[in-house]
Amino acid sequence: MLSDRMQKALNGQLNAEIYSSYLYLSMNAYFKSANLDGFASWMYAQAQEELMHAMKFYDFVHQRGGRVLLSAIDTPPTDWDSPLAVFEATLQHEQKVTGFINELVEIAMEEHDHATQIFLQWFVTEQVEEEESVGSVLEQLKLLGDARQGLFMMDREMALRQAPSGSVESA
Ligand code: FEO
Repeated sequence: MLSDRMQKALNGQLNAEIYSSYLYLSMNAYFKSANLDGFASWMYAQAQEELMHAMKFYDFVHQRGGRVLLSAIDTPPTDWDSPLAVFEATLQHEQKVTGFINELVEIAMEEHDHATQIFLQWFVTEQVEEEESVGSVLEQLKLLGDARQGLFMMDREMALRQAPSGSVESA
């Protein structure tokens, strides 16, 4: 059984993961409007991955006999100055999410909730991968500077990212 404090914190993270999906979908729309379809498809896969994260929290709360309480999702930003600005915002966002996951682990430890601690380990590892993959895109964009040609070549590479298995194919 989840403590009230743990349940509230897990529901908060469910909201944060859905917001992440919403944010990346907004970035997908931004790239679509800039005709950078490879970047757009990368963000689409990212948005789907976040929904998968959200559903892991959704299912876990139920598995533990808890109550899922859905809440309003904030409106994400819709415009950025450049692809570089998008990935700077993405890295900042992922670093914030890493902080949320770490706080959840702290709560689970304080509540002596071992099952939740084990459940959260997957997310601790996932955040290391997320920050690494976003960081490497950001580094490539920094190297490109204002080179338009390089950006279009990178757009083709970005299209190669696969959507998570079981998800709807990229739009
Ligand atoms: Fe669900 Fe990108 O963290």
